[in-house]
Amino acid sequence: MEKKQYTVTAALPYANGPLHLGHVAGVYLPADIFVRFLRHKEHDVAFISGSDEHGAAITLRAKKEGISPQEIVDKYHDIIGNAFKKFDIKFDIFHRTTAETHKETAQDFFKVLDKKGAFTQKTTEQYYDQDHEQFLADRYISGECPKCGYAEAYGDQCEKCGSALSPTDLINPVSTLSGKTPVLRETSHWFLPMERHEDWLREWIKEGTLDGVQQHDPKKWRNQVNGQCLSWIDGGLHPRAMTRDLDWGIPVPVEGADGKVLYVWLDAPIGYISATKDWAKSVGKDWKDYWTGDRKLVHFIGKDNIVFHAVIFPILLKEHGEFILPDNVPASEFLNLEGAKFSTSRNWAVWLHEYLERHPEKVDELKYTLTSIAPESKDSEFTWLDFQSRVNNELADVLGNFVNRALVLNNKYYDGAVPTLGELTAEDQKVIDAIKEIPAKVEELLYNYKIREAQGEVMGLARIGNRYLAETEPWKVVKTDPKRVETILHIALQITANLAILFDPFIPATAAKMRNFLNMETFNWAQAGSINLLSARTKTNPPSILFQKIDDEFVENEKAILIASQKDNESAKEAEAEEEEKPTAPQKEDIEFDEFLKIDIRVGKILSAKKVKKADKLLELLVDTGLDQRTIVSGIAEQFDIEEIVGKKVSVLMNLPPRKLRGVVSNGMILMAEDKLGNLSFIAPGEGMEVGAEIR
Ligand code: MF3
Ligand code: ZN
Repeated sequence: MEKKQYTVTAALPYANGPLHLGHVAGVYLPADIFVRFLRHKEHDVAFISGSDEHGAAITLRAKKEGISPQEIVDKYHDIIGNAFKKFDIKFDIFHRTTAETHKETAQDFFKVLDKKGAFTQKTTEQYYDQDHEQFLADRYISGECPKCGYAEAYGDQCEKCGSALSPTDLINPVSTLSGKTPVLRETSHWFLPMERHEDWLREWIKEGTLDGVQQHDPKKWRNQVNGQCLSWIDGGLHPRAMTRDLDWGIPVPVEGADGKVLYVWLDAPIGYISATKDWAKSVGKDWKDYWTGDRKLVHFIGKDNIVFHAVIFPILLKEHGEFILPDNVPASEFLNLEGAKFSTSRNWAVWLHEYLERHPEKVDELKYTLTSIAPESKDSEFTWLDFQSRVNNELADVLGNFVNRALVLNNKYYDGAVPTLGELTAEDQKVIDAIKEIPAKVEELLYNYKIREAQGEVMGLARIGNRYLAETEPWKVVKTDPKRVETILHIALQITANLAILFDPFIPATAAKMRNFLNMETFNWAQAGSINLLSARTKTNPPSILFQKIDDEFVENEKAILIASQKDNESAKEAEAEEEEKPTAPQKEDIEFDEFLKIDIRVGKILSAKKVKKADKLLELLVDTGLDQRTIVSGIAEQFDIEEIVGKKVSVLMNLPPRKLRGVVSNGMILMAEDKLGNLSFIAPGEGMEVGAEIR
């Protein structure tokens, strides 16, 4: 018998951007389906999530958008939270790690571990950006992943292969602030000596036991989860810093930690506990019940979160001592989009909140499709063409068509009253047997986190129903054997009622509509599989169409939106890159005043100008300096016309040694101001200033 109690978490999304379909398919939708199912099975469940609002992911985004970290997290917490609501992902609480309860909880947690001696304090060398005068934590540093070679791995993890990294692991590290190679500097931090935990972790992950006592069934863990953890452990664990030099986060609550905050991967998972506290309080429960005792803790995550949930957080929980360890960590692989990876920076993504704005009525269509392609054990792909085909060929043509036929015929022949079941043929019996078997299969699959297959089984029942009507042809038989049709429609309606239960976790709005058609006010999951869900004479209602078909224009339109937004973003990036080419230069080294006095700058007047042959940029100028008339070659031809500069007063650097440029000898230099984009401007003295006046 399954344990009755569950605490289910869905990874706290970083509040630094909206969610795309990859996040939804990999984490939030399967978690929501699982929880809806558990509730139907009458498990006591807390379903916890919230936004992850600390760490460098947030401060970097704030810098990019030019607003404060608080404004960033407020903005995205809302966008993400609203999208979840519209998409009907039903957390018990969607919390935030900037909440006061969280600060207390995380600081307490740290103090407990600190007291227990779970940390070591060490002074080490860490990367430091000299231009920005700050230590480079995690995402402030990028470079090549030592494991897979991905060029843009972050200092804390590689998003390509999922490895957890330390900044010093990166090959050719660069600061994401200045783009320069950082230097090493000493700083002191609290470390989690993970190497102390290798033995029990290995046993716990491989065998599911702690000191020989069974905790969970390791066979239920997905291969990629076991695999990633064991290879990490076998590679040898090392101390990992649990504090950071950052000005955004939860202050380290011990002495001597000024200016230091908790590492976001310590802070965030504790957020599951803080969220549970605030939720429990609001519904009059004891939060501790959800983190102790005979209860299953389940973390739904994406694959780049595996070691944080299956190695680091368990170490922290175990060191703390009062809490249960996860029973399972169902991690998904990645979802791709139209042949390429989802990419926030290239804006190659379908954003959930934008989809819902365009198609608020197509929630279940998206849920069904994403579950059908959920990347549970390997990467998979979303395409709009596939979306169209799942909606049209499966939802509309199989489920919608079946339900519609059964109800329309029942209306037509029996005025909507469920007919009685008569004598059964072999064909009927086969269908009835199938109805009986399916719920157990669906449950077995769901308890094993095979959500995609589970949905497939339920759709299988709709297919059976559809085929049953197609083969028994009640619309023909009704003319010759009306009694037989009563039995056929009775069975078809019982199938519909079963679908209205079994589809509930997956496509809840559709399931509710179906129950409405059938006047099933309440339902009990445990009755699924029965063919007595509707008693004879129960009235059914005329159905409405469950799913509109999706035409080719819809597909073309969605693809066009994707491509157009990607271009927008690319040009934005180009502009940004150009701006970044010439960062504000740091001040040069000091010079002696005497050296400055050696520089001879005077007001000059451009008398004439001509282009220098075979040099697009150069103009040959004749300049009156008050002292003489001399030739100066200047690289301004691309930005100034000859007519506009003749007669202009300019600043002339007089005492440069003569230089030959493209065959013309230049005696001095015209001073120009140049901005980051390379725009030039003369340093022009006031109009009244006479030629030859000295500048100093
Ligand atoms: N914010 C992280 C991410 O998006 C997930 C944090 S999960 C938690 O990858 F456990 F730390 F909360
Ligand atoms: Zn990698």
